[in-house]
Amino acid sequence: MIHLPAPTSVRCFGPAPLATRAAPLQRYEHPDMASYPAATVTLDRVTLKRNGRAILSDLSLSFLQGTITALVGCSGVGKSTLMGALNGLIAPAAGSISIAGAGRLDDARSLREARRGTATIFQDHALIDRLPAIDNVLLGLADMRHPLSPLPWPKSFRIRAAVALDEVGLLGRATARTGQLSGGERQRVGIARALVRRPRLLLGDEPFASVDPVLARQLGATFRSLVVRNGLTVILVLHQIPLARTLADRIVGLADTRVAFDGPATDFDSEAEGAVFSAAPAG
Ligand SMILES: Nc1ncnc2c1ncn2[C@@H]1O[C@H](COP(=O)(O)OP(=O)(O)O)[C@@H](O)[C@H]1O
Ligand SMILES: [Mg+2]
Repeated sequence: MIHLPAPTSVRCFGPAPLATRAAPLQRYEHPDMASYPAATVTLDRVTLKRNGRAILSDLSLSFLQGTITALVGCSGVGKSTLMGALNGLIAPAAGSISIAGAGRLDDARSLREARRGTATIFQDHALIDRLPAIDNVLLGLADMRHPLSPLPWPKSFRIRAAVALDEVGLLGRATARTGQLSGGERQRVGIARALVRRPRLLLGDEPFASVDPVLARQLGATFRSLVVRNGLTVILVLHQIPLARTLADRIVGLADTRVAFDGPATDFDSEAEGAVFSAAPAG
């Protein structure tokens, strides 16, 4: 079990600016929403607690297939907690979370089924440094073979892993020791480890935190093409607001245990940004 230090309170210093040297952002084409009508994830009156304290209260939201949603909000507001609930690691104190085709996450069988179709890109990468990059990507498929298998990974899995590395522009580093990669490269290995699962639901907790803005846009374009090609549902915690505006179809802004903004990314104007990021700095 991994114990991460818990942030103690909401810190809000405004959204992190995207580096100014970046070229102006281009808006990605929207997928044809009409052809992706199904809700993949539905939260019904969900309350999430940590240490007995309600972090998010009475949340009802659904996320549609074939869309990218950006989750934004101050540090400590509960974005990672919500991601933890969506991948079944944190059980709601009240309400329910359902995944289309799997069922409610509080049912063990449904949870197993939901997990098969879900991939998560973690904030801290959670990579094994001593392994080659491609082996870390293969770990994304660990639940698809026997845990004690002494056999080498099957060739078909290795090809999938190579394709995933290629999608994030890292095929040339496949055999490099992961510990020797740069922060941005490690982040891309983490993304490839999620993509190799060919998920229906892709969750990312600040997946672009340590990549530069140009690469973040390229990876964003990769996500967009997966959404269009495979009808994926993507939910990303993003702290770069300009990137959230251009990459996402929809922005959900959290503040003070609730949804403070929910709408098309194009409607997330300075007023909406102010409402989401208005919490006073802790001190
Ligand atoms: N492992 C944990 N144990 C107990 N409380 C936690 C833990 N992680 C986070 N919290 C609490 O939940 C709140 C929300 O944290 P988090 O979801 O990580 O916020 P965000 O991702 O928006 O920065 C924090 O303010 C903290 O008080
Ligand atoms: Mg977080």
